Amino acid sequence: MENRATIRNAEAWIDNGGEPIRAHGGWMLQQDGYYYWFGEDRTDGRKVSCYRSSDLCHWESRGAVLTLASKVGSVYYRTSLELFPSDKEDNSFGQGSVIERPKVLHNERTGKYVMWMHWENGRNYNDARCAVATCDTIDGEYVYHGSFNPIGHMSRDCTVFQDTDGSAYFISAARDNADLLVYRLSDDYLSIEEHVKTLWPGQYREAPAVIKRNGIYFLVTSACTGWLPNQGAYAYSDSLTGRWSQLMPFGDATTYDTQPAFIVPLQSRGEMTYLYVGDRWDPSNYHHSTYVFLPLSFPSDNELKLEWADRITIDLSNGIIEPQSEPSGLHRIKSCGAERYLALVIEKDGAAEVTGNVLSYASEEQKWIVEPAGEKGYVRIRGKAGGRCLTVNLCSDGEQLRDEQAVLARSDVPCCSEWSLEDASDGESGVLIRNRTTGKVLSAGFGEGQDRKHAQVHVTEASKHDPRKGRDPQRFEILNVY
Ligand code: DGJ
Repeated sequence: MENRATIRNAEAWIDNGGEPIRAHGGWMLQQDGYYYWFGEDRTDGRKVSCYRSSDLCHWESRGAVLTLASKVGSVYYRTSLELFPSDKEDNSFGQGSVIERPKVLHNERTGKYVMWMHWENGRNYNDARCAVATCDTIDGEYVYHGSFNPIGHMSRDCTVFQDTDGSAYFISAARDNADLLVYRLSDDYLSIEEHVKTLWPGQYREAPAVIKRNGIYFLVTSACTGWLPNQGAYAYSDSLTGRWSQLMPFGDATTYDTQPAFIVPLQSRGEMTYLYVGDRWDPSNYHHSTYVFLPLSFPSDNELKLEWADRITIDLSNGIIEPQSEPSGLHRIKSCGAERYLALVIEKDGAAEVTGNVLSYASEEQKWIVEPAGEKGYVRIRGKAGGRCLTVNLCSDGEQLRDEQAVLARSDVPCCSEWSLEDASDGESGVLIRNRTTGKVLSAGFGEGQDRKHAQVHVTEASKHDPRKGRDPQRFEILNVY
């Protein structure tokens, strides 16, 4: 029987009741014809939400399966059962404990569903503990068994992996995220049995997810940049606890604006197919964060590839995932120096300002059209919102202002709105955006004492960058909008 559904990436995800799907840093488990999606829900107190779907597209909310008020019960190892910090009157604890990246396994021997997750006290990320909860049914009320530092290690971003022989592993970031540690779980999956491997020590990885394909293990992971997306990387090995390859990039410079959450193996007629699910965190507002579902491909036994698709059609009757794309033609322009995105802000009175704002996926102000301007490879940079062109501020008599000149956005197309995009000759990433008329380059930074909400954007003489001064304020990345 055909069971096709189309998933539109880069659009808000809504459940069958019309509510946004809140299941971040999540996990999926299949049972009795349903996929169950667990994840973080931070509305009105932290909790673990659960949704289910028979086609991976239409999701029914099954409510919260673990909350800060859930039942607690100790098991046979030492844990802290404190779910909501005891001094909750202390406002610095915000909404209470942080629960991140919940993952659920089914233990065949005990019949229990076992949830592993990352726990923090709600005030800071210093406890760095894992936590465990269990339930007799997949989407029932989980009982919380407490948090702890596995074999004394810090434990932040995490995942689990159940091997074909039933053994299961917990993998988490330790030593302030410097190392990824692999632990074998006890037979009942309730505790850590042994630390079996340290992966890529000192390389600061987050967001791990593991699959096994044709006997080869693949691990995908992100770098550590808070809520900002970065270049994802993967590695492979023929033994989970043996020698792993080095990390190699997958996806684009921002993993298509995602951070790995989990990978769903789909039963296909021929061989398995694999669906990558990434969180698209919105750094300007966590609650605007969404998800991206993309097929993984494997050009060879040891290679993993992720390509963008605006839409994917999944046929669960045969596991075939078909990608379809219509490039948006839009770009975000990221300042490498200030980690801010060029924004064209049009005030009510029609005045336009060019500034550098925190990445926000909902913001039309951060979308730009980069179009050819005549011959010789020059471009015009036009804001999607308001359609005005980026241009330099020239005095009315054509004379230039002094250094640190303002950048304007004008609706007409003056001669000084042509720019060249120059690759760095020093191997640093990003381009110099040079104005054709003045020869000066775009620069973004923060003035002394200025609040860091908005970076100032202006044009200055191109200068040789001294890396000891931090990141280059004259470097920008032109990123596709997905
Ligand atoms: C990135 C992690 O991958 C997320 O799970 C979350 O911990 C954020 N950092 C917090 O900054």
